[in-house]
Amino acid sequence: MPSSDIADRIKAAFARVEIPGGGNLAEFSGLSDIIVTQGAIAAAISIAPGMEAAFGPARAEAQRLAEAVAEGRKVMISLTADKATATHAHARQPGPPAKEQVPGIKHIIAVASGKGGVGKSTTAVNLALALAAAGLRTGVLDADLYGPSIPKLLGIEGKPAVRADGIFAPHQAYGLKAISIGSMLTPGQAVVWRGPMATSALRQLLRETDWGGLDVLVVDLPPGTGDIQISLCQQVPLAGAVIVSTPQDLALIDAKKAIDMLRRLQIPLLGLVENMSYFVAPDTGKRYDIFGHGGARTAADRLGMPFLGEVPLVMAIRETSDAGMPVVATAPEGDEARAYRAIAAELLRTSPGLRG
Ligand SMILES: Nc1ncnc2c1ncn2[C@@H]1O[C@H](COP(=O)(O)OP(=O)(O)OP(=O)(O)O)[C@@H](O)[C@H]1O
Ligand SMILES: [Mg+2]
Repeated sequence: MPSSDIADRIKAAFARVEIPGGGNLAEFSGLSDIIVTQGAIAAAISIAPGMEAAFGPARAEAQRLAEAVAEGRKVMISLTADKATATHAHARQPGPPAKEQVPGIKHIIAVASGKGGVGKSTTAVNLALALAAAGLRTGVLDADLYGPSIPKLLGIEGKPAVRADGIFAPHQAYGLKAISIGSMLTPGQAVVWRGPMATSALRQLLRETDWGGLDVLVVDLPPGTGDIQISLCQQVPLAGAVIVSTPQDLALIDAKKAIDMLRRLQIPLLGLVENMSYFVAPDTGKRYDIFGHGGARTAADRLGMPFLGEVPLVMAIRETSDAGMPVVATAPEGDEARAYRAIAAELLRTSPGLRG
């Protein structure tokens, strides 16, 4: 059945779901769009804070009705307190909301940046590979709804398998377990996933994936300081965040915004990586500090966080990334791989708890 027909059928079925205070779910203003992808069906019911228990039975009934027409897709009907609550929770509440450990994962590291295109995903993947090379059982979660790039970087295709019990089986690539929020969407669909839907999809991907025992999960965040970032910080205890920045002052000003947000959310800052730090000419091997290299090291000092290292701007990194053959895995003896391994080593040195 076409996706749009499934969504219509679910919506019609929701008319049979009673909600607290009278009325039915289909006409409830807090019901999001019903998103149907190749592998998943998702909808969020946005409710006032404190109404979770009252809406529990309605959610369960909606879940059951959606599963009845899901044709094998994984169904995620979730309750969310409204977006304003999430965005301003830190301002309104005296303490952070309860965070729940993700079963099977010891440490979760977010890779963040203030602005887009600084090489966050490339760094996340290669850092994860370098951590794996250091002996840690490592996974990658691509939480970048609007520009997922982990599938391309790791050369993985298609949606993850869903086990009979509804749990996702992550992709395996170069020794990493990997799952991407993007594999749940068809192109162009991300735009209709509004705040609460995106955050509940993230929650389900995190908690309903068979990670099978990881020392570290590296989460590639979207750029900036939006809902996904805030909700990840509030939902799970993060070991901390690694910030990626290019050397330009402008990028560092943007990085500072991300850092300020993480500080407000009381997320430990594990360190700063300077990407596209300098250019190495492929013919002569000569190094050029085209962006005024070193800005990130100074900034890290000033911000009181570890400087983890620098990655040069080299064609090999771009080409291997585009080809789904990340440099740490496919050219481990090269200078580029060495740069990422040095960053991982520095991270493990400055945050020794990650090994435990
Ligand atoms: N050190 C590097 N040398 C050369 N190219 C690089 C380097 N790091 C990243 N790139 C390239 O720069 C582009 C952007 O990188 P990437 O997708 O990792 O950035 P991002 O910060 O995750 O971007 P977005 O904000 O879109 O998520 C990609 O084409 C990537 O291959
Ligand atoms: Mg990215």
